Amino acid sequence: MSIARIGPKPWRATALALRVALGAALGLLFGAAADAAQPALLVGTAWYPEQWPQSRWPKDLALMRAAHLDVVRVGEFAWSTEEPRQGVYHFAWLDRAIAEAAAHHIYVVIGTPTAAPPAWLTSRYPETLRVHQDGRRAQHGNRQQFSFSSPRYREFAQQIVTRLAERYGHNPDVIGWQVDNEMGPPSFDAETRRQFHAWLKRKYGTVANLNRHWTTAYWSETYDHFSQVPMRAHDENPALLLDFKRFVTDTWASYVENQVAAIRAHAAPRQFITTNTTHWGDQFDQYVVSRELDMASWDEYVPSGRYRWLHQAVQQDLVRGYKNEGFWVMETQPAFVDWWPVNAALPPYAMRELAWQAVGHGANAVLYWQWRSALNGQEQYHGTLLGPDGTPVPAYGVVRRIAAQMARAAPAIAGTSPHSAVAMLQSYDSRWAIGFQRQQKDFRVVKEFDAFYAPLERFAQSVDVVSPEAPLARYRLVVAPALNVLSAAEARHLAAYVRGGGHLVLGPRSGMKDAWDALWPQRQPGPLTSLLGGRVQQYYALEHPVPLSGVLGSGQASIWAEALSARSPETQVLMRYGKSNGWLDGKPAILTRKVGKGSITYIGAWLDPALMQNVLDDFLRKAHITPLIPGVSKNIEVCERTGAGKRVWILINHGDHAQTLRLPSPATPVLTADAAGQSATVMLAPHSIHVLEAPLQ
Ligand code: GAL
Repeated sequence: MSIARIGPKPWRATALALRVALGAALGLLFGAAADAAQPALLVGTAWYPEQWPQSRWPKDLALMRAAHLDVVRVGEFAWSTEEPRQGVYHFAWLDRAIAEAAAHHIYVVIGTPTAAPPAWLTSRYPETLRVHQDGRRAQHGNRQQFSFSSPRYREFAQQIVTRLAERYGHNPDVIGWQVDNEMGPPSFDAETRRQFHAWLKRKYGTVANLNRHWTTAYWSETYDHFSQVPMRAHDENPALLLDFKRFVTDTWASYVENQVAAIRAHAAPRQFITTNTTHWGDQFDQYVVSRELDMASWDEYVPSGRYRWLHQAVQQDLVRGYKNEGFWVMETQPAFVDWWPVNAALPPYAMRELAWQAVGHGANAVLYWQWRSALNGQEQYHGTLLGPDGTPVPAYGVVRRIAAQMARAAPAIAGTSPHSAVAMLQSYDSRWAIGFQRQQKDFRVVKEFDAFYAPLERFAQSVDVVSPEAPLARYRLVVAPALNVLSAAEARHLAAYVRGGGHLVLGPRSGMKDAWDALWPQRQPGPLTSLLGGRVQQYYALEHPVPLSGVLGSGQASIWAEALSARSPETQVLMRYGKSNGWLDGKPAILTRKVGKGSITYIGAWLDPALMQNVLDDFLRKAHITPLIPGVSKNIEVCERTGAGKRVWILINHGDHAQTLRLPSPATPVLTADAAGQSATVMLAPHSIHVLEAPLQ
């Protein structure tokens, strides 16, 4: 256990009653001390003290402490307890819960309660309730029943958040804030519609400009006024659908800003502000909504209980890319959830692997949802750490071991983060655009992204996932699968990267549409066709796999294939289709062109996994990328975090067979009590986890 974690802080000795009374004053006095002592790696849980008698809290917190937990997230659905009547605030319980947590050496993250409005609010102000696309207004109940654009709702949200920030913004035990909870559903009420029209007017200036970009002569869609534009999330002109998604993004971003401003006005800068997002969530553009936040966080669930490590790894990298910094896993499951057809439990080893994988990919905290189930309410069946009797269930023991090891590793992890030479570009515009018009029902953008990610991660053992607007100069290889919507500015950015010596690989369906979701007249890849010296002649949705072969091997394409044509003598054909649907036979499937020291490549098909690995391995080698640790078998995950003069390896054996690895340099094991001294080899037993530290040369 780390000394930093258990060492008594001077203010801990203060009697609980005194702490509650002195609250804010103590906060101002000792805020810095709490900050300095905070371990670099935290483990915690979602705790709902409002659901239990106060007399029970010390017992809960003692059990948490015994499991080496050091942070609780509280309050994110507690509005009716915090403000039981309009303008009447009850915070004494929260004062006490925070002080009690602190007395047990546990930090607190406060969730703003706005995902669950109280009944007095929605019954007195029914216009704050969300409206579904079919015009039905949500009833009070469940959660997320509010309209994200309602000025009235935002006013109430700002009031409660201001009260919280005034009270806890300098509390030394409160280390951060979570805004709302898993934001997502839009509203289709009259106010939102008015705001959508105003948004369109701001964007296009004149309705004639909108008509031109949306090609509204099609199906007599021409508008005379912005107010005539319908508001729909599907079955519409794709240009409208794409703009609706962007409007939804901006509306959520301003919803977040409303709360962030209220917090920042009163909170100490050391308190971070985040919001917890869902896996691969595309309800809005996370890069935009993250701008106002200090840190990204997400809720990691494997509902089926079937843990596939690459499938989870890509999501960690995705979330790290929202801010290109360390992030938190704000929720994860103690064994199982309650919202899947079969809520199978993760095996204990998978819980350990999941947690360490998150840290390997840049997480600095892992919190379990939830501590103990409320006796009633919608989530009675969900996995917890305590049973209804208030004593540990088996998952508690697994978490205790994870937390103990993380406490031991925290000093080594401090100041480190993953750094990658390979980036993948992830674009919400492109995901949405393909989602509106899939053309082949199995063309799922996330699945296709996974198909590119897996070989890259296996080879390079570290991949950044970033927005197409992110700075790219630091990457030797940039891969953009299905970058369907490619604005002129993004195309210039990518071309500059290639001309600067970067290697760019585009996947199928890339560069088809401009920023308004209109087809680029050059065909794919739009403004990059001249740099590539080639283009897509025609695309084909596939019912059956087609063969292809060339200098990079042979294999099959399925779901999607594009016949390419080279239009420059410098453009090389790397693969061609074999005999297939008549249209593709003998046509180029992959084109590449050297541009100075860099290159641009277009892969026109969804390749089978083995061929994808061959093809991408070749580009990785050309870009001079080497594995962090060579020679690992396919179930071994290698993660590396560097910084503060250290290199920390997190090695996870996800498989059932042992493997001995040779490290590039001798390293010291961090997790074992008897710190066995430096060694350049490490034996990974099945499902084992090793954390090793070496100086950064
Ligand atoms: C999350 C949510 C939590 C809880 C959890 C159960 O999506 O943020 O409040 O409902 O799911 O898995």
